[in-house]
Amino acid sequence: MPSIRRWGKSKFERNPESSFKLLAAVLVITLYLLLKEFQHPTVHQPFTTPVGATIQYAQWNGTGKAHELRATKVRDAMKYTFRKYRENAWGYDDILPVSGGSSSSRNGWGAFIVDSASTLALMGLWEELSHSIEHILGIDFDTAENPVDPFETTIRYLGGMLSIVDLYDAGLIPEDVLHEEARDLILEHAVTLAEKLAPAYDTPTGMPWPRVDFDTQQGEPSPTFVFSDDPNKREYDHPVIGPARTGSSILENRVLARMTGNPIYAKNSTLAWAPLVWSKWKSPWKGMVDAPIDIMTGSPVGRSRHWDGGHDSYYEYLLKITLLAPQADPHLDVYKQRFLGSAYSLRKHLSSRSAPAPEHFMQHVFIGRQDDQQYQNQQGHLACFAPGTILLASKHYDQPYLRTFSLALLEGCRHVYTSTPTKIGPETWSWTPKFSYDEPFISPLTERQQEEWSQTGFWITDSKYQGRPEYVESLFYAWRITGEQRYRDWAWEAFAAMEEHCKAPFGYAQLADVWETKGEDNWVDMQESFWAAETLKYLWLTFTGVETASLDTWVFSTEGHPFRMIR
Ligand SMILES: *[C@@H]1O[C@H](CO)[C@@H](O)[C@H](O)[C@H]1NC(C)=O
Ligand SMILES: *[C@@H]1O[C@H](CO)[C@@H](O)[C@H](O)[C@H]1NC(C)=O
Repeated sequence: MPSIRRWGKSKFERNPESSFKLLAAVLVITLYLLLKEFQHPTVHQPFTTPVGATIQYAQWNGTGKAHELRATKVRDAMKYTFRKYRENAWGYDDILPVSGGSSSSRNGWGAFIVDSASTLALMGLWEELSHSIEHILGIDFDTAENPVDPFETTIRYLGGMLSIVDLYDAGLIPEDVLHEEARDLILEHAVTLAEKLAPAYDTPTGMPWPRVDFDTQQGEPSPTFVFSDDPNKREYDHPVIGPARTGSSILENRVLARMTGNPIYAKNSTLAWAPLVWSKWKSPWKGMVDAPIDIMTGSPVGRSRHWDGGHDSYYEYLLKITLLAPQADPHLDVYKQRFLGSAYSLRKHLSSRSAPAPEHFMQHVFIGRQDDQQYQNQQGHLACFAPGTILLASKHYDQPYLRTFSLALLEGCRHVYTSTPTKIGPETWSWTPKFSYDEPFISPLTERQQEEWSQTGFWITDSKYQGRPEYVESLFYAWRITGEQRYRDWAWEAFAAMEEHCKAPFGYAQLADVWETKGEDNWVDMQESFWAAETLKYLWLTFTGVETASLDTWVFSTEGHPFRMIR
C-alpha cells in the first residue's frame, strides 16, 4: 500500500533553566487563546455533529439493505475504470478508453484523480484512494498553462477536495489512508485554488468572468468572445454568462467558508448569483431567469429560459443551499421561493406531454425549452437531473404535487432509455407536443427520425451517449426518497446496458449512436471524469445500503460530491 508522507513535529529540547520560562510562556499563550476564543469563537469545527433533515424514506422494514451482487458489480466497474486510468494515464486529466491514450483539457492537474476520490472513499476502495491522495497532495494549483474555467474547476477540483475533507471529518476515511496533517494540507490546497480563482469575481456585478489567467491574475472572457468596437462584428457588448456558470459555486464555497472560518468565499458566491436571485429583470415566468446575462451589468441580453444544460445547476443549487447552509442564513427563504417558483414554472411552461404515435399510444412528459419567445419541443439528457432534484424539493418543502410531477418526468427519461436498441438514452430528443397552440418548432425530418417517432413517440436529435449521470442520479433520489423497488431495477437495467455497450479496453467509452448496437464501431474514445465522479457513484449508492451517504445528512454537489449538512 502506498503510504502518505508523515510530517514530523519538532520536539522541544528540555533543560532545567528554560523549563520555567517555557511554563510561563505556555501559561500566557493559553490565557491569550482562551480570551480570544471567548471573544471570537472559532468557526473551524470539523467534528460538529450534523443537524440533518428528514429526506429519505423512513419505513424500509428491511428493504433498504444492500443488494450485494449489484453493488459489487458497480464497484468492480469503478475498480476497472480506476485501474485502467492508473496503468495508462496517471496524472493526466482523462484516459482515452478505446486507445489507452490520455488527454488533459482541465488544466492538467489530474482531473480524474480529484473528481473520482469521493467515489473511492464511499466505496471503501482504500488502496486506490491512498494512491490518489498522494497525487492530490503534490498538485501545484499556483500555476496553470491554460486559462482556467472557474465553473469546471470549482465543481470538479475544489468540490472534489472539500468532499474528501468532509468525509474524513465525518470519520468515514481510515487514518492509515488519510491522517489529520494530510487532511489539513488538502484543505490548504483548496484554499490555494480558491484564492487563485478569486480574480474571477472582479467584475462590477460580482458575476464571475468565464476564465481566469493564473499568471496575470486577471479574469477573461471565454475564448469565443469577440471584442470589437463595431456593433455589427460583435454579438454582445461585454462577456456574457449562463445561469449555471454563475450560480454553481455556492455549495462548494459555503463548505470552504465553514471549514476555514473565512466568510469571503460564501460572500463572493452569494454576490455571483445575486443578479439572478434578486433580479430586477421581470421574467414573465415566476422564478425563471432569462439568459445569457451580461457580467458587467447583470442584465439578461438574451431570452433563453429553461432547466437544461447551461441553466440546470443554478436551479439545483437554489434548493440544495437551503439544505446545506446554516439555518440562520437570512436568504434561505428567498432561495426557497425562487426554487419553488421555477419548479412550478417548469411544470406550467416547459414540460409537455407527447402525443400518441402510430405504433406507440402511451404519452410521456418531457422537458422542453424556451428560446427567444419560441417553445422548443426538445430535451437534453442533462435535463434528466430535474426529476431527482424536484423530488428532493418535494420532500424538503413538503410539496406533494411536485412529487407526482417529478416522478412523471423521471418516467419520461426512462422511456427514452428503454426505447433504444442499446437501452441507453440519447443526448437530445424531440416529440410532438399533445397540446400546442403553435406549430411544433422541431419535426422529424429524416426517414429514421420518422421511424423512431412512429415506434416510440419521440425521435432522436443527437444520438450520442457521453457517459452522463443525470438519469441514474434521479433514480438514486427516487429510490432513497420513495423506497420503491422499481427505481432500483431501472438503475440496474441502465447499468447492465452501459456494461454491455460502453466497456472498452481502457475504461468506459462514450457511444456515437444509442440507436445502433454495432459494438466497438459505436465507441467514442472519450471518458469524462463525471463517469467516475457521478455515474458510477449514484449507481453504487442505489444498490448499497440506504444508510450510506444518507440524504438526511449529506448534500450532493452538481458533480456528485457529498458535503455534510451542518445547519
Ligand atoms: C413498511 O411498513 C409500513 C407499515 O406497515 C408500510 O406502510 C410500508 O409500506 C412498508 N414499506 C415497505 C417498503 O414495504
Ligand atoms: C472576492 O471578490 C472580490 C471582488 O468583489 C475580489 O477582489 C476578491 O479577490 C474575491 N476573493 C475571493 C477569495 O474570491
